Amino acid sequence: MAEKKTTYNLVPQTLKKGLYTQIVGSRILHFKELDSTMDRAAEEAERGTPDGTVVLCYSQTRGRGRFNRVWVSPAGNLILSVVLRPTLEALPFVSILAALAATRTIESETTLDPVIKWPNDVLVRGRKICGLLVENSLQGRNVRHSIVGIGLNVELDPTETPEIAAIATSLRLETGRPTDVSALLLRLLHELDEIYVALRNGRSPVPKWSNYLETIGKRVEVQWGADVVTGTAEGVDDLGHLLLRRDNGALLTLSAGEVTLKTSERMPAPSGG
Ligand code: BTN
Repeated sequence: MAEKKTTYNLVPQTLKKGLYTQIVGSRILHFKELDSTMDRAAEEAERGTPDGTVVLCYSQTRGRGRFNRVWVSPAGNLILSVVLRPTLEALPFVSILAALAATRTIESETTLDPVIKWPNDVLVRGRKICGLLVENSLQGRNVRHSIVGIGLNVELDPTETPEIAAIATSLRLETGRPTDVSALLLRLLHELDEIYVALRNGRSPVPKWSNYLETIGKRVEVQWGADVVTGTAEGVDDLGHLLLRRDNGALLTLSAGEVTLKTSERMPAPSGG
């Protein structure tokens, strides 16, 4: 296997291209390697770092996904967490805003047609190319911070990790060419900023996000605690909850934190990155 060459100047290169954001990227910290950008971002948040702080690294030793799955994080991918300080009312929309931003970024920086598998997996040709993780800290009704983790597979070769070989993909694999990662990061930060600023001003990302949802109209299986529920995904409500019409005619409203969607035969253990 040919050794991959990694350069560690992504952030300066990105900034040189011109970052014109209002909040996201107010501060950018970058590291060669971290356990997880989620933990480092949470530490910075506790120390009072400003809204929009970005923590980026080239590889993670303990990258994690939803439901504590492993997120495979070798160098060559985009690995970052953003510290946000939304209101309590805006909090349910944070993962939606991140999925929309990542999807638009892939769409505008490549020729690919990404879609979103509810609630927030970004897929290309049925395989996961980007995963999003949101971890919140609340004190009563006060949001201390919300950390948005984004793992976008750029150079990942999923065949090197048997657990994700069948479920993950990357920009390299799909486009067959290298991606300008600084242009990708720049676009991602701009998209996050635009949608976050709009959210702060009371504009929901749900209508735009739902345009990319591939799940709607499909038959799905949902893991709900110990139960598996089947039905047809009829749509989403204003909060992005999935409306599932069960085979017995009942309509279930499902929130992302409670369920795992199984559109394929088996639920993957690792997270696809
Ligand atoms: C998932 O699809 O399960 C979510 C994956 C989230 C991965 C990102 S990579 C950057 C940040 N740091 C982590 O440890 N996880 C998130």
